[in-house]
Amino acid sequence: MSASHIPGTTGAGAPATAAQRGPLPPYLPRWPVPGLVRILAPTGDRLWLVTRFALGRRVLADPGFSRAAAVAPPAPAVHPLRPDPSSLTSLDPPAHSRLRALVNRAFVPQAIAALEDGIRAEARGLLRRGGPRDLVRDYTMPLAAATICRILGVPEAERDRFAALADLGHALVPCTPQESEAARAELHKQFGRLIRLARREPGGHLLGALVRAHDEDRALSEAELIALVELLLNAGYETTIGQTGLAVLALLESSGEWRRLVADPGLIPGAVEELLRFAPVVPISFTRLARQDTELAGQPVRAGEAVLVSLLHANFDLPDDGCPGVLDVRRRTARHLSFGHGPHICLGARLARLQLRTALEELVAVCPGLSLDADPAALRWRPPEAIVRGPTALPVSW
Ligand code: HEM
Repeated sequence: MSASHIPGTTGAGAPATAAQRGPLPPYLPRWPVPGLVRILAPTGDRLWLVTRFALGRRVLADPGFSRAAAVAPPAPAVHPLRPDPSSLTSLDPPAHSRLRALVNRAFVPQAIAALEDGIRAEARGLLRRGGPRDLVRDYTMPLAAATICRILGVPEAERDRFAALADLGHALVPCTPQESEAARAELHKQFGRLIRLARREPGGHLLGALVRAHDEDRALSEAELIALVELLLNAGYETTIGQTGLAVLALLESSGEWRRLVADPGLIPGAVEELLRFAPVVPISFTRLARQDTELAGQPVRAGEAVLVSLLHANFDLPDDGCPGVLDVRRRTARHLSFGHGPHICLGARLARLQLRTALEELVAVCPGLSLDADPAALRWRPPEAIVRGPTALPVSW
């Protein structure tokens, strides 16, 4: 993967860091790019890719670009596997707004804030357990697993088994496609059980709130409720693991940004936004389909053509070219599209920010001397075709 995918890192600029270079989808264009590019997806389909911040926001928020039409054959697709058309991510308003309002009742700010102490205690416990040697195996994975178990009300005694199934189901550990499929089927059964448990013993967790909201409205079938819980795991687990790994890697590779956070942990909330901008775990948006003929960046886009946004490129499209290829934890304008924009903007953004901030705060406090114990160029990564990026191991000393 060439450094020239990243602006400000070619020619005389600093070489791109591994946090950015880690395998990206091969159809992403190299910098500099026009605002709109025609790409050839692995499916053989051709799609429009938006690479600018303002244009990306416009497409993601414009009802003229439909998600529902984008998941229905024969719409051009990036991945051969089409998403479930009844999933939250595949709906247009008003069906989307109704379902999203229901889920939002469980994701209110107070409910997310209430998770902080638990996440912090878990993070501290993991770091004090002899210290991490592989930051992914010993810290980012168990921390994300503990959080998702807490959210879904997985009983304490079952958490290790649930986490092991989630790791297999998302192929986060070495396994065959059959083992991964079997784990996903077992998880599916577990979701039904967790929903029944949440009805019997409504704890203070998000799943309990979701089940209550659902039962009051009778808005969904039981199968739809299970699909929603499955979406929370699919959208929230791997992303958090990948983003935390990318963030720590970016900090350790930079010339002094880790030391800056150690010297002034008050910089961490701002650093979280800059790290989301600099090394996004999800480099591209889902596709949208143009409902009618329109124009983007001066190019005609025809009704029925598919458009997606390179969140990575949009993040590097800073006003006044503010050195986007440089990680700067003190940056004041770390604007980004890493959580998307518009009606489908990441439902878990508040939770993801909380997890990333807490993970970094504890790491900085307990392991201030942290350093990478491997050649960044030799790190192992999730495969480039995976929707979610991230290193699969991060050897460290501290
Ligand atoms: C750093 C971590 C995360 C990143 C970078 C991320 C990124 C994204 C992005 C880019 C989208 C929108 C895609 C599009 O519109 O094309 C999205 C949607 C979504 N995310 Fe996240 N996500 C993260 C963590 C989470 C977490 C922790 C949860 C929940 C536990 C979550 C749940 C969702 C859901 C349910 C949607 C679909 C929303 C809808 O269609 O209305 N995400 N995420």
